[in-house]
Amino acid sequence: MFTPAATYLITGGLGGIGLAVAHWMVAQGARHLVLLGRRGITSDEQAQAVAALQDMGAQVYIGHADVANADEVQAVLTHIDQTMPPLRGILHAAGVPGSGILLTIDQQQFVAAMESKIAGTWILHDLTRECPLDFFVLFSSMAAVVGASGQGGYPAANAFLDSFAQYVGSRACPHRALTGACGTT
Ligand SMILES: NC(=O)c1ccc[n+]([C@@H]2O[C@H](COP(=O)([O-])OP(=O)(O)OC[C@H]3O[C@@H](n4cnc5c(N)ncnc54)[C@H](OP(=O)(O)O)[C@@H]3O)[C@@H](O)[C@H]2O)c1
Repeated sequence: MFTPAATYLITGGLGGIGLAVAHWMVAQGARHLVLLGRRGITSDEQAQAVAALQDMGAQVYIGHADVANADEVQAVLTHIDQTMPPLRGILHAAGVPGSGILLTIDQQQFVAAMESKIAGTWILHDLTRECPLDFFVLFSSMAAVVGASGQGGYPAANAFLDSFAQYVGSRACPHRALTGACGTT
């Protein structure tokens, strides 16, 4: 399913789902992974999970970047370009849960839940437009459909992901160099 001759970028790659997906990808043949987050490895559990990926034969690069910061994301993409096999897939799993109900949160809280998903998605899309990706997977949530108690910004951010996937998959977005699929999970 995954080629050892490619690099795959997982934003939020050191989070719970990111590490689980990384493990699955390496078991399926991926050999070059970039796990992107703002803080890098901060726990023994993460360090052990990364070591396990390396023991399975994977090259793992920890990309330090806020996915909502285009310059920081570009720096990670440049590192891939200069030192790793071609980027062929993106899994955008960076996210911040919760933000309180809309009646009580302030702008800062609302933006915190939105920026990794909305700005982050657009930045990843924009900076890799010319890159022939096999897939661009966005980790949305059923909260986008049914809501989530006390989390005003989070469902809205995920609803953006769902709409973005439809946009990229449609003729309205002719500039996305996807060879495979774009969708949410
Ligand atoms: N867990 C669930 O049950 C569930 C259900 C539905 C959907 N999802 C979605 O699945 C994704 C992963 O969930 P998870 O449970 O694995 O979450 P998690 O364990 O909290 O991991 C999220 C990761 O995202 C990174 N992150 C957050 N903001 C970022 C930013 N601006 N730039 C770069 N990295 C950022 C965090 O690292 P840093 O703080 O170091 O940046 C963290 O490692 C999320 O998008 C979530 O909405 C999860």
